[in-house]
Amino acid sequence: MNPYRVLVAGLGKRGLHHATFFKANPRFELIGISSRDTARLQGALGKLGNVPSSGDARALACSERPDVFCFCTPPNARLGMIKIGIECGAKLIAFEKPVALTSAELFDIRDELHQAGVKAVVSHQHRYGAHYRAVKRVIASGALGRVHTVYGTATGWMTHMLSHLIDYTCWFNNYAPATWVMAQGAGRSKFADSHPSPDYIGGFVQFANGVRAVYECGAGAPDQPEVAKWWGKNRIGAQGVEGFAEVLTNGGWRAVTKSGGFQGGEGAMNYDLDMPPYIQEIADWLDDDRKAHSCNFENASQGAEITLALQRSAAEGGQVALPLSSAADEPAMLRAGVPDRPVLVSCDQNRKEFGL
Ligand SMILES: NC(=O)c1ccc[n+]([C@@H]2O[C@H](COP(=O)([O-])OP(=O)(O)OC[C@H]3O[C@@H](n4cnc5c(N)ncnc54)[C@H](O)[C@@H]3O)[C@@H](O)[C@H]2O)c1
Repeated sequence: MNPYRVLVAGLGKRGLHHATFFKANPRFELIGISSRDTARLQGALGKLGNVPSSGDARALACSERPDVFCFCTPPNARLGMIKIGIECGAKLIAFEKPVALTSAELFDIRDELHQAGVKAVVSHQHRYGAHYRAVKRVIASGALGRVHTVYGTATGWMTHMLSHLIDYTCWFNNYAPATWVMAQGAGRSKFADSHPSPDYIGGFVQFANGVRAVYECGAGAPDQPEVAKWWGKNRIGAQGVEGFAEVLTNGGWRAVTKSGGFQGGEGAMNYDLDMPPYIQEIADWLDDDRKAHSCNFENASQGAEITLALQRSAAEGGQVALPLSSAADEPAMLRAGVPDRPVLVSCDQNRKEFGL
């Protein structure tokens, strides 16, 4: 079987990861790379070898016509790149979280992909970690009894981390649909960041199957003293009537259940281990429509809608019903709605990371 031809646009940290792991998998052929930044393009060519390259992603994609169009750009570049992927005739578009900064853009991306009938995947690849999979296994085994709550906390700020927390907890809850959310936000220092966010957001989600989710992201989120790496201080888990199971992104996993007592193990987020299965599932899905990728766009889109609903609630107060019935610019709503008072932190390290 001929390898699938891949073009990667955006060659920062994640673009290089994707290009490297596509190149390493024999089911793919890296046929082009693109960056607007000449120094990054030259640096990538030095690492990846002789590959057709251009500063113009659209021109390269339309001339090379890849099977997979992959882009790894900052969150403010999404819809335009999706349109390039569709225009160049790709069968699958692979891109980075967060799916979109606004619900207006999310709906446009969704419409474009559906109309074109193009598959898409979003890189929530932490889930391939052995510790994430161990937690999922315990939950799916039924050992927690009736699961009533899923939860996720991260000290990293919202637009970096909330998408991950929501995707993995929705996975734990078998992607049951959400029916409403309610949230609060605090602190304005990260509105100017490339991943614009309130410094702290906390919120609840009601799922149609009765499960409650609780999320916290940013300066007010709790420390995880067991974890040294600040970006790895994420605790994601599920509680049921007969126990709990949770993962720490850089601190292994643990579970206590009525039937199994205490269980746990090591694990830390590792691109070298998490990217290969993410890339392999792209080939599997292209081979067979029935083998939907674990990080398929439909799942990611559901998580994005929850993320954006939480932002609306934090901006305007009250509960927000899901699915969203109208498009909006949630970052603008947050800038208008979050009080102009400094965030209160949960630990000294958060004070430093938020420049307080
Ligand atoms: N899944 C994960 O574990 C993970 C980890 C880190 C970052 N990310 C996400 O990956 C994305 C990229 O992050 P990064 O750390 O690689 O960023 P980066 O800043 O290192 O690289 C971004 C690249 O995009 C290019 N670019 C910028 N604006 C562009 C535009 N408008 N059009 C085309 N190219 C443009 C830049 O020149 C650069 O090559 C972000 O959305 C980030 O949230 C995901």
